[in-house]
Amino acid sequence: MFAVHLMAFYFSKLKEDQIKKVDRFLYHMRLSDDTLLDIMRRFQAEMEKGLAKDTNPTAAVKMLPTFVRAIPDGSEKGEFLSLDLGGSKFRVLKVQVAEEGKRHVQMESQFYPTPSEVIRGNGTELFEYVADCLADFMKTKDLKHKKLPLGLTFSFPCRQTKLEEGVLISWTKKFKARGVQDTDVVSRLTKAMRRHKDMDVDILALVNDTVGTMMTCAYDDPHCEVGVIIGTGTNACYMEDMSNIDLVEGDEGRMCINTEWGAFGDDGALEDIRTEFDRELDLGSLNPGKQLFEKMISGLYLGELVRLILLKMAKAGLLFGGEKSSALHTKGKIETRHVAAMEKYKEGLANTREILVDLGLEPSEADCVAVQHVCTIVSFRSANLCAAALAAILTRLQENKRVERLRTTVGVDGTLYKIHPQYPKRLHKVVRKLVPSCDVRFLLSESGSTKGAAMVTAVASRVQAQRKQ
Ligand code: GLC
Repeated sequence: MFAVHLMAFYFSKLKEDQIKKVDRFLYHMRLSDDTLLDIMRRFQAEMEKGLAKDTNPTAAVKMLPTFVRAIPDGSEKGEFLSLDLGGSKFRVLKVQVAEEGKRHVQMESQFYPTPSEVIRGNGTELFEYVADCLADFMKTKDLKHKKLPLGLTFSFPCRQTKLEEGVLISWTKKFKARGVQDTDVVSRLTKAMRRHKDMDVDILALVNDTVGTMMTCAYDDPHCEVGVIIGTGTNACYMEDMSNIDLVEGDEGRMCINTEWGAFGDDGALEDIRTEFDRELDLGSLNPGKQLFEKMISGLYLGELVRLILLKMAKAGLLFGGEKSSALHTKGKIETRHVAAMEKYKEGLANTREILVDLGLEPSEADCVAVQHVCTIVSFRSANLCAAALAAILTRLQENKRVERLRTTVGVDGTLYKIHPQYPKRLHKVVRKLVPSCDVRFLLSESGSTKGAAMVTAVASRVQAQRKQ
């Protein structure tokens, strides 16, 4: 009995020491409530800047009009095709919206690989590849004889002047195909599809994944007016009053704005909170100097941040007895799924040991506890930053509506949010703390980003049909 107590005492002492050590080392990554409130205010100012005509050209946060003006009202119906390019997986779908008068969405889908030669090669070949995958899908599902409208979820910043057109501003995340920037991706894909004479597909809508997520959630909950992605990349959209959108004619009603919050800080606005690890990660990325907020938050980068921290701690003799392995020196060896596994409630510590051993290290008990805490700090910072920007959007909605309490729903999708055991809880808690006057419901939108393009297409064809009546 005494021995058991002694062991427990020994372990809690060891844990306390390791946590203190890591907290000291990563002091700069732990953001206080005051700092978060400050970041929230900065993001509010960024939104203003992006929305106003004079300041938009130089704004880091682009606040792109999406030409989505209506959320689903439940009367949408029909069969649609949908493509999802730019998330963790490339997917083609057939979506049936409503059947026999019932509000319900049915999907059949197929994933296709996105080899790096394709996403970082020649742009025309990328679109030909996408068109070939669509042709393959239509053949397997026996759809080639049908004329179907298609919605394209394209998860990159695009300047739109209508729903069915979008000029790529720049690639983000893992994509860097040549000759696509500054061109309309809808016409590029349409052209590539013409090579398949037996395919009759009309692209009706180009949709960012955040917009898709919001629309999918809005089909189930009409209060949904915000969409957030926390996956490979991160971003959010929300419904803005037309009277505040300088870039689009008209003052009536609302339009969805794709904020492209991933670029927050690209003009230096976040330099005071960026750390040496953020700078190092950025220098080794495909787009240095770009998407700086995203690089502190999203799934493509969290594992790499952890790796850079562990390497520095090992070099300083604070971990693994100062030993480093070649895997620890190798970019990309720690992925976000590892971070999530290390932070699991029960198996976390055992997972940490296993992951470190796989990296060729010989961790002690103390090392495992410390590494686990590094993961917590990095993923907590990510949730905190997301919460601050989201709180700014919620405050804006509240101000637009001039209400004392805002009741709203936020649709969320993305691999990091879905696979990380504590992420959703932390995010919700911090948002509620930052904007206590908002009653927020978070709705996880299963396949929201993918289904969403079909939802937008469905709404577009409903609106079109109503206009013809
Ligand atoms: C990147 C893209 C953005 C997208 C987000 C999530 O930030 O620029 O358009 O919504 O990733 O996939």
